[in-house]
Amino acid sequence: MSHIIGLKCTHCGEEYPATIQNTCHECFGLLAVNYDWDYIQDHISKEKIKSGPNSIWRYADLLPVETTDYVDLGTGYNRLQRARHLEEAIGLDELYLIDDSVNPTYSFKDRVTSVAVTKALEFGAKAIGCASTGNLAASVGAHAARAGIPAYILIPSTIELGKITQIMIYGPRVIAIDGNYDDANRLANEVVDLHPDWAFVNLNIRPYYTEGSKTLAYETAEQLGWNAPDHFVAPMASGSLLSAIHRGYKELMKVGLIPEKDVRASGSQPLNCSPISTAVQRESEITPVRDYQTIVHSLAIGNPSEGENAKETIQRSHGYAATPTDEEVLEAIHLLAKTEGIFTEPAGGTTVAGLKKLVEEGYIEKDEKTVVYITGNGLKAQDTIMRTLKQPEAIKPTLTNFEELISKISRKEKEIIIA
Ligand SMILES: Cc1ncc(COP(=O)(O)O)c(C=O)c1O
Ligand SMILES: [Zn+2]
Repeated sequence: MSHIIGLKCTHCGEEYPATIQNTCHECFGLLAVNYDWDYIQDHISKEKIKSGPNSIWRYADLLPVETTDYVDLGTGYNRLQRARHLEEAIGLDELYLIDDSVNPTYSFKDRVTSVAVTKALEFGAKAIGCASTGNLAASVGAHAARAGIPAYILIPSTIELGKITQIMIYGPRVIAIDGNYDDANRLANEVVDLHPDWAFVNLNIRPYYTEGSKTLAYETAEQLGWNAPDHFVAPMASGSLLSAIHRGYKELMKVGLIPEKDVRASGSQPLNCSPISTAVQRESEITPVRDYQTIVHSLAIGNPSEGENAKETIQRSHGYAATPTDEEVLEAIHLLAKTEGIFTEPAGGTTVAGLKKLVEEGYIEKDEKTVVYITGNGLKAQDTIMRTLKQPEAIKPTLTNFEELISKISRKEKEIIIA
C-alpha cells in the first residue's frame, strides 16, 4: 500500500503508472500525481507533521516519493513573518511573508529540486538536468552534487553573473544557450527524448517536481495555526508555483487538516514578459511572448508550460494578476529591503510591486489576511541592482571627516524628505 496511485492526465483523466513521463499519450495534456487521498487521510496528522524534520520533508505524506532517503540540503519550513512595516506602507491590515531566499541555494527552487532529485534517484535515473532561468540551475547543481549524480544544465547565456557563478561552483555540466529560456527549454526537450534515462526535473519528471512548491502552502497554514490565509500573491514564470500553492491549501482542506475556505490566488509578472498576467487582465487566451527584454531574468518565460493552469487558478479563485514595469520592480526591491530588511532579487521585486499595485487597484482588500511569497535572493542579481544605488563616499579615517560627512548625509536625507 502506498499514498501514490500513479499519474493522471489533467485534461482527459487517463491514468498511468508512476514512471518518468510528463504528458498524456492520448491527448498531450499535462500529467499530475494521482494520490490515494483516503490512504493519506488515514496516515496523516498534525502531531506526525510536528514531530517531523524542520524541512519540507515534514510533509512527506503529501509528497510524491516512496523512499525516506531524501536528497535534502535542509530546504523549507521557513518562518512565516508578519510584515508590519510593509503592510503599513502599502495599506493592508494583516500581511505576512515567507522569505524563501534563505533556502540552501537561496531560492524557492530547492523545494521542487529536492523532491524531483529524490524521485529521479528512486527511478534509477543516470543523470539529472533542467532548462532554467538561473535559480533552478543552481538548485539542481547543488542537489546533483549532494546526490553524487551527473547534471546537465541549460541556461540562457544572458542571465546574471552571480547566478552563473553559483551554478558553476557545484560542478554540473553547464550549457549556455545563445538564445532565451524558451530556446533552452526546446533544446532540453529534445535532449530528454534522446536520453530517456536522464531525468530533467522540469521536463520529463515535471509532475513530481511541481509538487515541491505545495509545501509553501503547508508551511503557511501550519504557522497560521492550521488555517489558510484569505489571499496570497506569488510570482509567475511557468505558472507552476502559483498553481501548486493554491493546490496545497485545497489538499490540506481535503484531508481535514485546515477548515474549508476560499483562498484567493494572485500573481505577478514583469510587464515586458507577462503572458499569464496579460491573459488574466484581458480575459483572453495566453499568447506566447517571443522577444522580451526585462531585468527580471528569473521570470522571463515567454511560453509558460503551466500558464493555463495558473490562469484558471487565478480566475476560479477570484484573484487577479499584476504587470509591474522594470522600474516598479526595482522600487519594490528597495521598499522590501527598507521596510522588512529583506534583500530580494527582481523576481521578489516583481511580487512586491505586484502586491502593491493589486492593493492600490482594489484587487486585494485592506482587511484580507494576505501572504506574499519572496522567492529569490538579491545577492544573486547584484549586477542589476547595483545600478540603482550610489557608491558610498570614502573619507580619510579622522573624526572630523566622519562628522562632516554625516552632517552632509543627514542634510541630504532632509532634502529628500522635503522634496
Ligand atoms: C526566484 C523565482 N521566483 C519565482 C519563479 C517562478 O516559478 P514558476 O516557473 O514555478 O512560475 C522562478 C522561476 O524560475 C524564480 O526563479
Ligand atoms: Zn489526456
